[in-house]
Parts: sequence; structure tokens; C-alpha cells
Amino acid sequence: MKIRRGSLSDLASLLNIENICFKDTEDNEDVEELKLFLESGKYTTFIAVEKDTVIGYVTVEDTKKSKKLKKAYHVTSVAIIPEYRKRGIAGDLLDTCYSNMPLGYFMSCEIRSSNFSSQKLFEKHGFKKIKNLDNFYPDEMGYYYETEKKK
Ligand SMILES: CC(C)(COP(=O)(O)OP(=O)(O)OC[C@H]1O[C@@H](n2cnc3c(N)ncnc32)[C@H](O)[C@@H]1OP(=O)(O)O)[C@@H](O)C(=O)NCCC(=O)NCCS
Repeated sequence: MKIRRGSLSDLASLLNIENICFKDTEDNEDVEELKLFLESGKYTTFIAVEKDTVIGYVTVEDTKKSKKLKKAYHVTSVAIIPEYRKRGIAGDLLDTCYSNMPLGYFMSCEIRSSNFSSQKLFEKHGFKKIKNLDNFYPDEMGYYYETEKKK
């Protein structure tokens, strides 16, 4: 498995991953959002590739400064196609994001209360549950997670 930065040529693969991974919810990103993830300087996307097949990705948004005036990022999306899950690939993608960040930062994400695999992934990679988000999803509550890396 290799990890590289995403580019516009990955658009069809990411659309396919979204359709597979979020088929049970309405959380999938549409084509315009995915284009932004791959083109806009506001977003960084890393792609996991196995034998020329794109098997997963993570996108992080640069949200500039947090309230504590540190660099702040938001994990906008992470998904791995089912056959390749539970092999540490999402974790490797998160680690790649961390190693490309500046020295001190906040990073946040929101997770559905029923999404235990995602909660386990982020908790294993240093995120802490900060608060409940009562009306964040149309059909269930969410949790707000955050991690901080000190300089
Ligand atoms: C969440 C998701 C990205 C995790 O990808 P992954 O590559 O399987 O994650 P990893 O293999 O790096 O797992 C990280 C940790 O979470 C655990 N984990 C992952 N999936 C799990 C599951 N279904 N049940 C229990 N634990 C799980 C792993 O076991 C691992 O912990 P461990 O090493 O202590 O065992 C993947 O399940 C997915 O794409 N889900 C659908 C899309 C989604 O929900 N995205 C997140 C939106 S917030």
C-alpha cells in the first residue's frame, strides 16, 4: 500500500469510494465538494493506493486559526473501501496528515454517535471526545472530537 497526495485525476475514484462507504447515510460528498478537496489550496487530500487501485482517502481542511490562535485543521472526510478495512490504512492516512502539519496545531472532526469504528480510529490516533452535538446529523446525534499537538 502506498500513500500519495490526491489530484483531480482521482476524482472518479473518490466518487466511487463515497458511493460505497456512505451508502447507508446521506453523509457522502458530492462531485463539486470532491473537486474542491482535490483542487483548492484550502484542502489537503491523501490517497491510499494498492496495486494501482485507490482504496481510501482522507481530506483535511485548513481552517486557519483556532480560538487559541494556533493553526487549526478539520478532518472533512476519511473513508476506506470495505475489503481493505481494519488493516490500519485509515490510521496510516491520519499519520501522514500529522507529519505534514506545522509543529503546533488543533485538529477537529465530528463523528456520528453510532459510528464506533470511526470513534475507535480517531481515539487511537490521539483525538478526545469534547462534547455532544445534539442536532448535527438529521437522524442521530454526533460527537465533536479534537486533538492538539504542542510545539
Ligand atoms: C472508519 C474507517 C475510515 C476506518 O478505516 P480502517 O482503515 O478500517 O481503520 P484502521 O484499520 O486504521 O483502524 C483504526 C482502529 O479502529 C479500529 N476499528 C476500525 N474499524 C473497526 C470496526 N468495524 N470495529 C471495531 N474497531 C474498528 C481498528 O481495529 C483499529 O484499532 P486497533 O488497531 O486497536 O484494532 C472505515 O471503517 C470507513 O471507511 N468507514 C465508512 C466511512 C466512515 O464512517 N468514515 C468516517 C466518517 S467520521
